[in-house]
Amino acid sequence: MTAFRGTTAGPELFPAMGPKLRRDMDALFPLIEKTFPVPARFRRDLASGVAELSRLLTSGRGERPLSYLNQPPMLSAYLRYFLPWNLYRLCRLLPSLELSLAPGDRILDLGAGPLTLPIALWLCRPELRAFPLEFSCLDLSRAALDAGKKLFAALNGPGGLNGGSPCPWIIKTHSAGGRGPQNPAKGKQNVSLVAVLNMYNELFQSVSPGNEEGLYRLARTQGALLASYAGKDGKILVVEPGIPRSGQFITLLREVLTGLDHPPLSPCAHGGPCPFPGPAKSAGPRRDTGKGASKWCHFAFDTQDAPAVLRRLSTAAGLPKERATLSFLLAGPAPEDQRPQDQGPYPRLPGDQETPSSPVRIISDPFPLGLAQGPREWGRYGCAKEGMTLVRGEKALVESLPPGTLVRVVFTGRRDPKSGALLCRPAARPPA
Ligand SMILES: C[S@@+](CC[C@H](N)C(=O)[O-])C[C@H]1O[C@@H](n2cnc3c(N)ncnc32)[C@H](O)[C@@H]1O
Repeated sequence: MTAFRGTTAGPELFPAMGPKLRRDMDALFPLIEKTFPVPARFRRDLASGVAELSRLLTSGRGERPLSYLNQPPMLSAYLRYFLPWNLYRLCRLLPSLELSLAPGDRILDLGAGPLTLPIALWLCRPELRAFPLEFSCLDLSRAALDAGKKLFAALNGPGGLNGGSPCPWIIKTHSAGGRGPQNPAKGKQNVSLVAVLNMYNELFQSVSPGNEEGLYRLARTQGALLASYAGKDGKILVVEPGIPRSGQFITLLREVLTGLDHPPLSPCAHGGPCPFPGPAKSAGPRRDTGKGASKWCHFAFDTQDAPAVLRRLSTAAGLPKERATLSFLLAGPAPEDQRPQDQGPYPRLPGDQETPSSPVRIISDPFPLGLAQGPREWGRYGCAKEGMTLVRGEKALVESLPPGTLVRVVFTGRRDPKSGALLCRPAARPPA
């Protein structure tokens, strides 16, 4: 078997889920209920359990015990709400990433929880189910890891989603001490992918807000750890909720990893300084990026294709989710011709001309520009090697660009006076 080189590694970051994946996501809920049954009287409390866990993960984080997922009510809420939403977000992202997994590869998942990464890959990259892969999954919570193993077995068992076909993946779980993620596979080399999904926001909660040097120190330690696990050839994937501090932390990690020969592969459209470094005024040896310094790199996409039962539970818990958000970084060694700036082809629109320009990654939602910019002009912030850009144009064209897409642009040579962003327009022209 030859190495799998990804499916859609290209300009669109969050392609809509296909019908098969939607069916599998829908079928996951009954499977979770069947695998982890709770008496009907407890099911009535699920929405309030979800709301309480959400509070403990955000504003009430100081009250959250370290191994919170060892507590049955919290694990139950996680399995029925947070796990499915994390799976949903990953299943929108992972198909577009060039993970380059090959038969026999090893994957290290730190802060694995209920095996969210293996389950997401199983769901959205079904072609990988035929490969022998080995996962080493580490978490503080033994109960979460065990629940993940049970769910993974149910996916592949009779009555599961794979028609009873066995999956050759080996999943090893390791419960960690409280000192932070350690490599359970220490000494062994050839980890193809090191992943940390939705864990760093728990780790950096111990760094007080405003302690930028503390956050940078954490990024340095964690970056060194991840790079050592990945070795010379492995890739590193970090995904976090789309909140400002996560974006800021990922930008710091990006900088550390670049210095350790693991430059960004995605979503960055370039390897230079990040134009969206987040809220810090100054943390570490970063360049002053001017007026754009408070914007952080994150993506938002609609959730219309998320399972209806999940959307209903979210509403019942008082956490309606019309859109999902995340920040992420895929880093690692790559041949020069696979670096992000060479990732085309970029979307061609009617009237498109060959215009040489660097690609811009669309970061923000569309928004109307002030009258001074033209009455019908809309814009979106984007990221390019030249810095932060404001991609502007007619509302319909600007709105039609999918979140996180790469576009070619024509720079106007001017800056937006409000944000300092470089003004440009998509190289493609709307149909006449
Ligand atoms: C929000 S959950 C994310 C789980 C999973 N990766 C996901 O995306 O759904 C964060 C996980 O990190 C684990 N965790 C937090 N601090 C940790 C540490 N120092 N070492 C290992 N795991 C840790 C928690 O137990 C929890 O399972």
